[in-house]
Amino acid sequence: VLSVRRREARSFYRPAAAPAGTGDLNLATGWYVVLRSAALRRSPARVDLFGASYVAWRAADRAPVLMPLHCPHMGAALSGGRVVDGSLECPFHRWRFRPDGSCRSLPDDRRPPAAARTPSLPTTERDGYVWVWHGGDQPLYPLPGTALGAPGLPPTYPVFHLEDPAGTTVRRILENTFDPDHLVALHGLNVRGSPESEILDAEAAEAVFGATPVSGSRMGAIFAWPSYAGWLGRVSDAAGLNADRFELRVAAWPTLQHVYYFADDVPHYHLVLAVTPVAEERTVQHIAVAVSRHGGGLTDRLRYAVHRGEVTVAARQDLPIFDTMRRGDQHGIYVAGDWPLREFRRFYQRWTDPAQQHA
Ligand code: FES
Ligand SMILES: [Fe+2]
Repeated sequence: VLSVRRREARSFYRPAAAPAGTGDLNLATGWYVVLRSAALRRSPARVDLFGASYVAWRAADRAPVLMPLHCPHMGAALSGGRVVDGSLECPFHRWRFRPDGSCRSLPDDRRPPAAARTPSLPTTERDGYVWVWHGGDQPLYPLPGTALGAPGLPPTYPVFHLEDPAGTTVRRILENTFDPDHLVALHGLNVRGSPESEILDAEAAEAVFGATPVSGSRMGAIFAWPSYAGWLGRVSDAAGLNADRFELRVAAWPTLQHVYYFADDVPHYHLVLAVTPVAEERTVQHIAVAVSRHGGGLTDRLRYAVHRGEVTVAARQDLPIFDTMRRGDQHGIYVAGDWPLREFRRFYQRWTDPAQQHA
């Protein structure tokens, strides 16, 4: 049944400008984090990404630029160069490259050869990250609007970022959100009753999360439990974290997610989950978290500390599992509670190279 569905599913994959070396990473088309914004300053930085090497730098308007690491002339590493007048100068023979990858000049006013250019990947910057579009020269949709300052939500405490290298695939990290059973089993989420899992159709997702530019680019889901007692027992009690209904609302694009946590319909915190595909079985997990600010009093600050603690601890609990699990994206034996995860896998695979057989 699975293989039939897969063949029928529409493929969104645009292999045209997929960087070399990505064939075995099972990467979906979409937006990936290159690095933290704060990590990209004035000098060019080498970045390992998509199983290849790149140089990241900032143009005159501070916009992030991402190009293959090696100079198209004789292959020097451009990360050893410098930015001059908004162009990246190679350290070896001082050819200069514009942000679009064209060669602007050679020393002594010699004319650049017509072929002197290097591909520049589509990038953008938001939520404290530099992002790159993977799977074609033109993004099929803009980077989805920020979850961190989402309209309709209360103001938040300053966003905090978690950045953790993991020895697993992109899909293993992203599908984790769609695995409600492990929230209880691994993370000790203190809920009672079994989760109601709901995958939203396009219309329902639009009602919850707003419009999305490309239909089929977003999968919405809601996971709800009938009782929640907070992760930290008495502390949660004191912070008023206990609730009758605990809800996770997930807006997932193939390569990133916005996740919102509600207790009794009160927003507690929300986050951006994104990944950097470094190489085979090497992926950096990025989480940017905004805890809602309800007044800022003592109890509210305690609530911030509890949520910050629980998100940080949960990320640390997943990592040793990720680091040691079976390699690859192949499935195992499923039980009923795994169906949202299977739905996510199908959704993710529709945005990958159809020649690959992962399920
Ligand atoms: S190798 Fe870069 S200019 Fe020659
Ligand atoms: Fe987890």
